Amino acid sequence: MGHTVALNFEDGVTRFIDVAGGESVADASYRVGINIPLDCRDGACGTCKAFVESGTFDAGNYIEDALTDDEAAEGYGLACQIKPRSDMVLRVAASSEACKTRPAAHAGTIGAVTRLSDTTVAFTLRTGPLAFLPGQYVNIVVPGTTQHRSYSFSSPPGAAEATFLVRTIPGGLMTGFLAAASPGDAVQFTGPVGSFYLRDVKRPVLMLAGGTGLAPFLSMLDRLAETGAMQPVHLVYGVTHDADLVEVERLSALVAAVPGFTFGTCVADPGSAHPAKGYVTDHLDPAHLHGGNVDVYLCGPPAMVEAIRQHFTDTGVTPASFYFEKFVPSGVVTSSA
Ligand SMILES: Cc1cc2nc3c(=O)[nH]c(=O)nc-3n(C[C@H](O)[C@H](O)[C@H](O)COP(=O)(O)OP(=O)(O)OC[C@H]3O[C@@H](n4cnc5c(N)ncnc54)[C@H](O)[C@@H]3O)c2cc1C
Ligand code: FES
Repeated sequence: MGHTVALNFEDGVTRFIDVAGGESVADASYRVGINIPLDCRDGACGTCKAFVESGTFDAGNYIEDALTDDEAAEGYGLACQIKPRSDMVLRVAASSEACKTRPAAHAGTIGAVTRLSDTTVAFTLRTGPLAFLPGQYVNIVVPGTTQHRSYSFSSPPGAAEATFLVRTIPGGLMTGFLAAASPGDAVQFTGPVGSFYLRDVKRPVLMLAGGTGLAPFLSMLDRLAETGAMQPVHLVYGVTHDADLVEVERLSALVAAVPGFTFGTCVADPGSAHPAKGYVTDHLDPAHLHGGNVDVYLCGPPAMVEAIRQHFTDTGVTPASFYFEKFVPSGVVTSSA
């Protein structure tokens, strides 16, 4: 029986390949023209060493020089030897360009464009089911221009239509397109891209969202509604103004759909009518940090992401893992990844 393997490259590009029963990941990869690092193909050199993010597999035959027991225990495997027993996610130690591949190009059409509030718009792309990891994004060419903007999926992988959540920026290029868009408008995009995606849930999860940084969490939570989560998952969703608070009903429905899921919202504006005022950091309950035994996912505007990272440094809590995505406006260069 075949399985789907996501190959994540160092530059954030992800390609999905079908690996036939009994086939190695390396053979399947070369079959479709993705030249992952490879030399001996025999489990002897270690050139094809890759980190297995998720999935079960037959590790094959290899010598200690190629992969030590410690490396295998840490989660590494050899792509020339790995034969998947389930769908897998593999981190390849090379860029997509070095492997002679690039993000997949797609064409779709606009479905619905829904104004959720004065500041936030949701839109759907009709593309047919897309493979991506929940939390990833695509680069959409703004129709009528040569520029692209990045948007995180707010729908789960494989959904019939892909959905997105967009903060409206006065004078913004994509904002302007969406204000006038009609169902059926053609859209080109590439992806999926990004290393911000939901890993296997092995311990409690804390999700921290700022504004439309909620989008990737909706995708992750929809996935958890399908697969189940055996751990507590808590989301703190903070916005600047009351109008920015959207999709709360959907989050409430997810509480019923994902066992162990809870969430809280807060609004920074001191004039807000919301009962929980302040920043996300003001509403971080130490209980949700589980003494550090927690995977933290953080997404939102760059200033919010930096403030929360600093908060963790200041409080001295080191989570088991920490993943973040900054919604950096296009053309803005940042010094940290
Ligand atoms: C990896 C990634 C994922 C992203 N995912 C999402 C997403 O899911 N939802 C979402 O809403 N956005 C997301 N963004 C941001 C998005 O790509 C655009 O930058 C944003 O939607 C503005 O596009 P625009 O064309 O409307 O405005 P632009 O034409 O890009 O901007 C017009 C002007 O406004 C400024 N500007 C742009 N954004 C802001 C801002 N937030 N605050 C202040 N000034 C600003 C610009 O610098 C420019 O001067 C993501 C960004 C990245 C890097
Ligand atoms: S290519 Fe040499 S160990 Fe896989």
